[in-house]
Amino acid sequence: MPYYRAIGEFPRKRHVRFLRPDGGLYAEELMGEEGFSSDSSLLYHRYLPTAIVKSEEADGAADGPTAPNQPLLPRHFRTGELPAGGDLVSGRQLLLANDDVRISFAAPRLGSGLYRNSTGDECIYLTTGSARFESVYGSIDAAAGDYVVIPRGTIHRWLPAAGTQGSGDGAAFTEALVIEARGHIRPPRRYLSQYGQFLEHAPYSERDLRGPDGPLLADGEDEPVLVRHRDGLSLLTYARHPFDVVGWDGCLYPYAFNIADFEPIVKRTHAPPPVHQTFEGPNFVICSFCPRPLDFDAESVPVPYNHHNVDSDEMMFYVGGDYTARKGSGVGLGSITLHPSGFTHGPQPGAVEAAIAGLSEGRTSTDETAVMIDTFRPLRLGPASQRTEDLSYAFSWARGLSPGGA
Ligand SMILES: [Fe+2]
Repeated sequence: MPYYRAIGEFPRKRHVRFLRPDGGLYAEELMGEEGFSSDSSLLYHRYLPTAIVKSEEADGAADGPTAPNQPLLPRHFRTGELPAGGDLVSGRQLLLANDDVRISFAAPRLGSGLYRNSTGDECIYLTTGSARFESVYGSIDAAAGDYVVIPRGTIHRWLPAAGTQGSGDGAAFTEALVIEARGHIRPPRRYLSQYGQFLEHAPYSERDLRGPDGPLLADGEDEPVLVRHRDGLSLLTYARHPFDVVGWDGCLYPYAFNIADFEPIVKRTHAPPPVHQTFEGPNFVICSFCPRPLDFDAESVPVPYNHHNVDSDEMMFYVGGDYTARKGSGVGLGSITLHPSGFTHGPQPGAVEAAIAGLSEGRTSTDETAVMIDTFRPLRLGPASQRTEDLSYAFSWARGLSPGGA
C-alpha cells in the first residue's frame, strides 16, 4: 500500500540499464516487503546504496524499564507534564509498549539525524506545530493532525518545518505521538478492493494521502545513519549521502494523512470504534475520533455504552475538542487513558444524563478529536507514563455515587 506512485526519473522497464549523464550507471534498489511477495518500490541512486564505511554499536536503546499493569487498573497519564527536548527520534519518551508496538511522546526542539527503523513501520501523529519529513523517497511537509506513515527501512530525518528554526532550548516545534510497530501499518483490509483500491465505503481514499513531493538530493560523504534493528541500535556510516535518489516508482513509500480528512461514519444510535478505524498493524489498530454529528435517533444516548473489549487494551489520546464521556474525570487535552482488558469502562458518572440533556438543548454535533490504539496483547507502562500518572483516575467512576449506586 498505498497505491502506485512515480517520482522523478527512472528507466522505461524494470531492471534495465539506466545511464547517468556522465555515462555511468544509476544503482537500482528494490525496497520490498515480505520477501519479494508484497508491495515494493524501485529506487535509482546516484551512488551505491550498499557502500558503508563503518558500523558502530550505538547508545540509546535503553528506554528505561517497563512495568506490567499490576495491580490491574484503568489509568490516566498527562503528556502535558512531559518535558520538551531532543529530536523526534532521540527525544522519544516511552509511554506504553508490548512486543507488537511501542507508543511514545516527543516534543522535539531540534532536527534529527538520519534514521532507519528496521524493526517495523512507524506512524507519527503530530498534535501541534509542524515538521518537515525528509527521506530517500523525497520530503513531506507535515502539520498538526497529520499521521505520517513510514515504511520499515526508510532512511529519513525529521526537521523543523521549512522557514522555522529548531533550537536546543526554545519551544518544541511540534508535539507528536510516535507509534512504532513490529511489522507493517496499513489501511484496514476491509476498506480495500481485492487489488488494493479504496472502496466507496472507506472513510478516506487515495486523494487524501500525500506522498513525497519529488526527488530529494543531498551531497555529502561519510554520513552517519542511526539504525534501529532487531538487536538494538547501530550507527552505520555511509560513504555518500543516502539522499541521492533521482527517481522511484512503486507502491511502497511514506505518506501523510490528516485526521481532518477522515470522513466520520455516523449511525442513528451509537456507533462502536471500528467505524473510526484508520490503520491496522500487527495485533493493534489505530482509530480516529473526529468532529461529527451526534447520533440522531429521538431516543439515542450519544456517548459510548459501558463496554469490555475482552481481547484488547484500549489507549485513547485526547487531542482536540471536548470529550463528553470523560467529563469530570480530570481527562483533558494531552491526556492519555488506558482501559485494559479485565476492566469494564464507560462514561463517567453523569455523562450519559448530560449528553441526553445536550441533545434536548439542541446540541447536534461533537467537536472531539482523539486517537485511539487498541492492542490485542497487554500494554506495559513505560517511564513516561509512570511519571505522569493521575493516580485518582482509576476510582473516578465511583466518586460521588450514593450507596445504592447512581
Ligand atoms: Fe472504549
